[in-house]
Amino acid sequence: MITASAPGKLILFGEHAVVYGEGAIATAVDKRARVTVCELDEKKIVVSSKNFGAPIDAPLKGETDHPAVRAAQAALEYAGQKVGIGIEIDSKLPIAAGMGSSAAISSATAAAVINLLTGTVPSLEISNVAYEGEKIAHGKPSGIDSSVATFGGTIFFQRGKITNLETGNLTLVVGDTGIQKSTKELVEKVRSTIEDPRVAHSMFSIGSLVKRAKTQMLEVGSPSKLGILMDQNHDFLRKLGVSSVKLEELVKAAKKAGAYGAKLTGAGGGGCIIALTDEPQEVIDALKAAGAKRAFTTKTNQEGVRIEG
Ligand code: PMV
Repeated sequence: MITASAPGKLILFGEHAVVYGEGAIATAVDKRARVTVCELDEKKIVVSSKNFGAPIDAPLKGETDHPAVRAAQAALEYAGQKVGIGIEIDSKLPIAAGMGSSAAISSATAAAVINLLTGTVPSLEISNVAYEGEKIAHGKPSGIDSSVATFGGTIFFQRGKITNLETGNLTLVVGDTGIQKSTKELVEKVRSTIEDPRVAHSMFSIGSLVKRAKTQMLEVGSPSKLGILMDQNHDFLRKLGVSSVKLEELVKAAKKAGAYGAKLTGAGGGGCIIALTDEPQEVIDALKAAGAKRAFTTKTNQEGVRIEG
């Protein structure tokens, strides 16, 4: 039996534009998904979970709509083995909220199965296998979620290339609308408008804003400058049509409570906002008063996937 865990993530800058080859910045957070795997006598994959209801039986190969099943299938393929696998998931991440729950589950499953079968923890392969699992939730993901879940830290990601950003911890408050969204649908929604030159221009503008954010973060720049870039990034996301009434209310509440900057994080449509602040409690109170289902501070820059024992 092997247990692995992987962190959730927050996209600080550049979501959606990253799908079109622009850079984006994401950080691993202090909420994790834990996955325990064991070998089964029967040649099938069985997933049970504290988070997703009744156990699921799935074949070693073939169609599935479950990220952990897909990650386990890809891990079996990588290890060149055809054994039954039992998977138990315990995730502290809100589902479909933009905090990388499916990528964390996929990455932890990939690491646990690969470690069970080969005794190794090959990061790059784990990231590739996790990417297969993430496709279930995302369709054609950029790969930023599975990369940050696997490698951890704070990363700049562009066209599959990962640069680790050596940066300090940021005080971020997360406000969750409590509204689940489909990343696949939101990415498709944006894709349907990509021929519009204004949309293409927004993508380009987000890309250049991300470059400025990267410089700021590497130079441990001023939070107020980073905050301005967060606000600008949020404006572009709103123009892309991926914000919502509730997200706007939370962003406004965070700003009014004195946050340096605030933006939706992840695909949008629902899910979470992030706010950069020196006064986390004031922002948390304001977000709750504005109707956030939950609001909390989060540590950034956390460790990537790891074997727990
Ligand atoms: O999984 P989410 O909701 O954090 O969104 C992923 C970020 C997108 O840029 C919208 C999609 C992608 O594959 O990068």
